Amino acid sequence: MTKIINGKEISAYLKNKIKDEVAALKQNNINVGLAVIMVGNNPASKVYVANKEKACEQLGIISYKYELPEDTTNEQLLELIQKLNSDNNVNGILCQLPLPNHLDEKLIINSINPEKDVDAFHPQNVGKIMIGDYDYLPCTPAGVIEMLNYENIDITSKNCVVIGRSNIVGKPMAMLLLHNNGTVTICHSKTKNLKEICRSADILVAAIGKPRFVTADMVKPGAVVIDVGINRCEDGKLCGDVDFENVQNVASAITPVPGGVGPMTIALLMKNTVTAAKKMNFNK
Ligand code: GUN
Repeated sequence: MTKIINGKEISAYLKNKIKDEVAALKQNNINVGLAVIMVGNNPASKVYVANKEKACEQLGIISYKYELPEDTTNEQLLELIQKLNSDNNVNGILCQLPLPNHLDEKLIINSINPEKDVDAFHPQNVGKIMIGDYDYLPCTPAGVIEMLNYENIDITSKNCVVIGRSNIVGKPMAMLLLHNNGTVTICHSKTKNLKEICRSADILVAAIGKPRFVTADMVKPGAVVIDVGINRCEDGKLCGDVDFENVQNVASAITPVPGGVGPMTIALLMKNTVTAAKKMNFNK
């Protein structure tokens, strides 16, 4: 029987533990606060930001939401981030991506105080992930590792193939699998023999943003398949990067979309926010 890995269940388990930590901090008169900035009207971003806000509420984390108009300038956004950088009530700062095209994403990310960078997007935190000495987990990749741990899927010595090389998922995903002793291959749009490489995977992570890209013939029988994609399909429904219906007959374990990796990302964001609050209050 193929195991359908339930991201809602695993994230609920993690969030319960985080909720207890938030409550314990409150006992010490420490409030945990997360600032979430959204610029413009990207419909998907609106949903993600609303979900982050909801998770904060569930866990007792104070969320400060900033919805800025599409025509916000770099200067205005930088000014807000500077204000949040020096606000002691704000432990974490998240600027929802993608930003409108006229904004300089690199400049904005680099302006967030690395101590408050709960997305782990700042180059200082990315570098720390690279050397395995990090406080802030890259949320989506760390969510995937949590799922594998929860399901007792050992990564050591496994052939791990990551499809996609984005800074948010593909690259840090490969790094975390490597830190967990996997043998890691990263594939991308210029990779030759993609199908053969995917078929060598014991653990296959799809993060390319192409609906149902991974078909059953690309999956080794018994492989674990993790689907990071969230796409809008022709029929208007959400679907992942994996052809779930057919791949589930080949894999030994698989994550669905929705209800797979998505909820995990948010749980790990909450975990990073608690880490930020502890750092601010105890590691002065
Ligand atoms: N856009 C898509 N995923 C993410 C994420 O994890 N963090 C931020 N800030 N923006 C995103």
